[in-house]
Amino acid sequence: MQIRVVIEDTSSRGLPAEHGMCLWVEACGRRFLFDLGQSALFADNAARMGIETREAEFAVISHGHYDHGGGLPTFVELNDAAPIYVHRRALGEYYSIREGKETYIGLDRRLRDSGRLTLTDGVQEIAEGITLFAGCKGRSFFSPANRRILKSEHGQFVCDDFRHEQSIIIKEGDSNVLIAGCAHSGVLNIIDRAEEIAGAPITHVVSGMHLAGVADLAFIDGLAEALKAKGCMCYTCHCTVIEAYERMRATLGDRLAYVGTGDTVAIGSCGC
Ligand SMILES: [Fe+2]
Ligand SMILES: [Fe+2]
Repeated sequence: MQIRVVIEDTSSRGLPAEHGMCLWVEACGRRFLFDLGQSALFADNAARMGIETREAEFAVISHGHYDHGGGLPTFVELNDAAPIYVHRRALGEYYSIREGKETYIGLDRRLRDSGRLTLTDGVQEIAEGITLFAGCKGRSFFSPANRRILKSEHGQFVCDDFRHEQSIIIKEGDSNVLIAGCAHSGVLNIIDRAEEIAGAPITHVVSGMHLAGVADLAFIDGLAEALKAKGCMCYTCHCTVIEAYERMRATLGDRLAYVGTGDTVAIGSCGC
């Protein structure tokens, strides 16, 4: 299995970066995109990396925020056949408090009428060995950074419950790989749900952890300890931010790696 980072907040390989996430995944004999960044940049980066986005068999959008689904209009133009799996709540009205003001951070809601979206909910095997799921339980290590994220419901701003978030589990050989976006629901809660669905331990996690601006170091240390107890290999990026990554690495050591734009994660004996 190979996971290539097309868009991430950082870059050390001469590719432009932007705040967001887009992964090209080759697994279980399938090739697909997980998230699409915030703009058309994913398509440019993919081309530079020798990735043919036109040949993606499907795309998954992890949740209804612009930095994960902003590239959708470009993808729809580039690829006229691939199903695009979007949670049925991901086209809701989502906001972030920025400089004291509610700022829209949702998807382009006109996409609803494009006829290209496959709306999802719950648990669904989208290809052999690849399971999409939503519906995390629990609030363990729920990031304080989530307090700045809202949704608008019936004309009122309320805290986002992140029921629009979905992730995937890839089962290939002995590996059970979890891929998540920002993991707003809490990466541990998502791992727990994934293990419940897979009926086996998650061996690898590729995910943001939404720790930007989290000053509570005890929270970050506790999360790292809990991930260590899980025993999985974690590849993180995006909203984890480098400072929190470095803090967690003191606990997790080589069980945690940061992946930036242009990097590749190879999992499995053949690394393919
Ligand atoms: Fe994000
Ligand atoms: Fe997000």
